[in-house]
Amino acid sequence: MVSVVELRHLGESGLVVSSVGLGCNNLGRPGTAAESLAGSRALVEAALEAGVTFFDVADVYGAPRGRSEELLGLALAGKREKAVIATKFGLDMQGSNGPDFGARGSRRYVRRAAEASLRRLDTDWIDLYQVHRPDPRTPLAETLSALDDLVRDGLVRYTGVCNLAAWQIADVSWTAQTERVGPVVSTQNHYSLLERETEREVVPACHRFAVSLLPYFPLANGLLTGKYARDTPPPEGSRLAGRHRLLADAPWTRIEKLRAFADERDITMTTLAIGWLASRPTVGSVIAGATTAEQVTANAKAPTWRPTPDDLAAIDEICPPRR
Ligand SMILES: NC(=O)c1ccc[n+]([C@@H]2O[C@H](COP(=O)([O-])OP(=O)(O)OC[C@H]3O[C@@H](n4cnc5c(N)ncnc54)[C@H](OP(=O)(O)O)[C@@H]3O)[C@@H](O)[C@H]2O)c1
Repeated sequence: MVSVVELRHLGESGLVVSSVGLGCNNLGRPGTAAESLAGSRALVEAALEAGVTFFDVADVYGAPRGRSEELLGLALAGKREKAVIATKFGLDMQGSNGPDFGARGSRRYVRRAAEASLRRLDTDWIDLYQVHRPDPRTPLAETLSALDDLVRDGLVRYTGVCNLAAWQIADVSWTAQTERVGPVVSTQNHYSLLERETEREVVPACHRFAVSLLPYFPLANGLLTGKYARDTPPPEGSRLAGRHRLLADAPWTRIEKLRAFADERDITMTTLAIGWLASRPTVGSVIAGATTAEQVTANAKAPTWRPTPDDLAAIDEICPPRR
């Protein structure tokens, strides 16, 4: 297959990723096709086949914790060079990375966490190592310096953050500059057609500090895929089956208007959700999760649809930006 996926630099760095990535928190997810190694391998192979090079995982993903990293490592065996792997540390591993003493940004823990992820991923290096959530107890300069040591030792290539407010992005960027350590090239934040708060302050901060945005929950857990409808039972085995509250509280009027918008343009809801995000300023890669190879292939093609200025205005009417 000829790849249609565009490649983009993260921040002002040399790290190049596909504009659609594969979010890997489904690898090993019980009750899905991605639970097994065969299912996980099918996702990874479909991604590489479609030109998706960017795989986002975290130490904490999977049951038990670490399982998603293990499955990604196994699925990429013999293909490591083709992939750009992003993983994360900083959430509670319940002892799997050794004791953390409540300081998961400390020099001691950062090194242990990286070594454990390298083992689970069965790789010699992590392309993008991300702080999953800031550690309020450890000075930021210590965490950044520990990450920089990993870069200098060749275990990590670039560093990123997640779930930061705009002021924290400014803080991280300035601290990196004053401490003379490598820049943070990306941030992951919740961002989708149904969640535009990120545009108010985080996007301008990303722009100012040359940090690329990696939107998570780009499909709103599947609400933006077109497979759920108001007052209709969810498809069996789908992510929202059994999550009645999320379905009951979904903004159905907006979702129905988005569906009509997509139908008028003869595109799928998924294409609309991913294509719109990929067109937004500072977005580096849309890390959509998937449970089947078919979903991965469809998602990879989404950015071939590019919204026109009229499309963007119509979308703003349906999902108004936060002022
Ligand atoms: N940094 C952070 O704090 C953070 C937090 C959350 C997530 N993330 C990252 O962001 C990634 C994406 O988030 P997410 O996977 O949780 O949510 P998501 O991308 O909003 O939704 C993924 C779900 O959408 C459905 N889907 C995907 N493509 C589809 C298609 N073409 N047709 C129909 N259904 C489709 C699948 O549901 P089914 O299961 O029903 O098949 C899939 O599990 C994660 O994998 C993770 O890497 C990061």
